[in-house]
Amino acid sequence: MKFSAIILFLSFFIVINFVLTQSANLDISKFGGKPNADIAKALTSAWAEACASTTAVKIVIPSGTYQMTHVEVKGPCKAPIEIQVDGTIKAPPNPEDVGGEQWLRIGYVDHLTISGEGVFDGQGATAWKQNDCNKKFDCKLLGMNFGFNFINNSIVRNITSKDSKHFHVNVLGCNNFTFDGFKVSAPGDSHNTDGIHIGRSTDVNVLNTDIATGDDCVSMGDGCKKILVQNVNCGPGHGISIGSLGKYKEEESVEDITVKGCTLKETMNGVRIKTWPNTPSTITVTDMKFEDLTMDKVSNPVIIDQEYCPWNQCTKENPSKIKISKVSIKGIKGTSGTKEGLVLACSSGTPCEGVEISDVSLTFNGAPAIATCTNVKPTITGKAPACTAPTTDKKGSAPTTDKKGSAPTTDKKQKQ
Ligand SMILES: *[C@@H]1O[C@H](CO)[C@@H](O)[C@H](O)[C@H]1NC(C)=O
Ligand SMILES: *[C@@H]1O[C@H](CO)[C@@H](O)[C@H](O)[C@H]1NC(C)=O
Ligand SMILES: *[C@@H]1O[C@H](CO)[C@@H](O)[C@H](O)[C@H]1NC(C)=O
Repeated sequence: MKFSAIILFLSFFIVINFVLTQSANLDISKFGGKPNADIAKALTSAWAEACASTTAVKIVIPSGTYQMTHVEVKGPCKAPIEIQVDGTIKAPPNPEDVGGEQWLRIGYVDHLTISGEGVFDGQGATAWKQNDCNKKFDCKLLGMNFGFNFINNSIVRNITSKDSKHFHVNVLGCNNFTFDGFKVSAPGDSHNTDGIHIGRSTDVNVLNTDIATGDDCVSMGDGCKKILVQNVNCGPGHGISIGSLGKYKEEESVEDITVKGCTLKETMNGVRIKTWPNTPSTITVTDMKFEDLTMDKVSNPVIIDQEYCPWNQCTKENPSKIKISKVSIKGIKGTSGTKEGLVLACSSGTPCEGVEISDVSLTFNGAPAIATCTNVKPTITGKAPACTAPTTDKKGSAPTTDKKGSAPTTDKKQKQ
């Protein structure tokens, strides 16, 4: 008697426990989401139900091909939410038909997971043709695949972002946000299709991610703190970039950025820090670590450019006031596409400080690549090229088509 009562109690307890710990699955088909149709409404309804749930919920987009117009969902929600995407979701090719600047825009949530082997296909080819940002200062903004805004403790795992119309991902105001096994793919000549742009965020990790795109693979704007970019393959693309910084008064400092164990293949830059001259802001850039990087025919493997000034929008009379300090450049190998493997062009007003270079073995056409240094006295250890003075004004070669410094884009990015 006693024994069976215990068994009964235990099995009851196990069942209850199972019900409580198992997160409920919400298949979008329950909300009318069907292959080959627009699932925007179904996903929005599924989110509303998930967000109201007091226990963890998983929204599932099963395998199949779907269409989707702009979706914007927000928290705060009552419990963790996972969106598992196994299908391929396609955006309308015409930017005007998307219905928002960010195709999938998620904000103000804690404990979000996006997982699965699914693909978000921005179908950007039409938009790239309309994109005039390489010619015009004030150009049209076309849909980004993802906008993650003010999200904490969250992870994006394994899914693919394909052919975004503009940036693939914009991360703004997030804390503890991880990309793991994420994939970005777009052609090398698709303008402004940055892989992951991060701004004003703390503790963001980009891990084990393959990025092939037409602009920066990862770009970090002002207010980035504690960012780790590790085991990322970049190429084609413009490299991994910090900045541009210093164009606006209200910018926040950048600190503690580590880029390590990454491979860059035939990209414009490897790792780059760029700041505008004649800056209104006096922010600092400190604690940068660029380590164990492999370059494969990268035009500018390591570059600090404190005279970044596309389209001659500024004068170079007054130097940048942005102080760059504590930069470690360590274990950089492979091939450079130009003879300058390292270009450290620091500000004459605020020279770089605490720059350490060690174990750099880059070659250009079989010969060791050189390092040029201005307004910086790096500490060099191990095998690394000695500093030489730049022979020509290399800054002129900074890509003029790169438009992240332009006022409209940056403003827009920060407001999102
Ligand atoms: C995210 O964290 C910040 C800083 O701790 C906090 O102010 C904000 O309310 C959090 N947001 C959410 C959606 O939990
Ligand atoms: C960061 O977020 C992850 C994913 O939700 C979570 O497991 C981890 O505990 C968080 N870390 C901190 C320090 O809160
Ligand atoms: C992500 O992908 C990797 C390899 O492609 C796989 O090993 C891993 O299980 C996947 N993770 C999840 C959570 O699906």
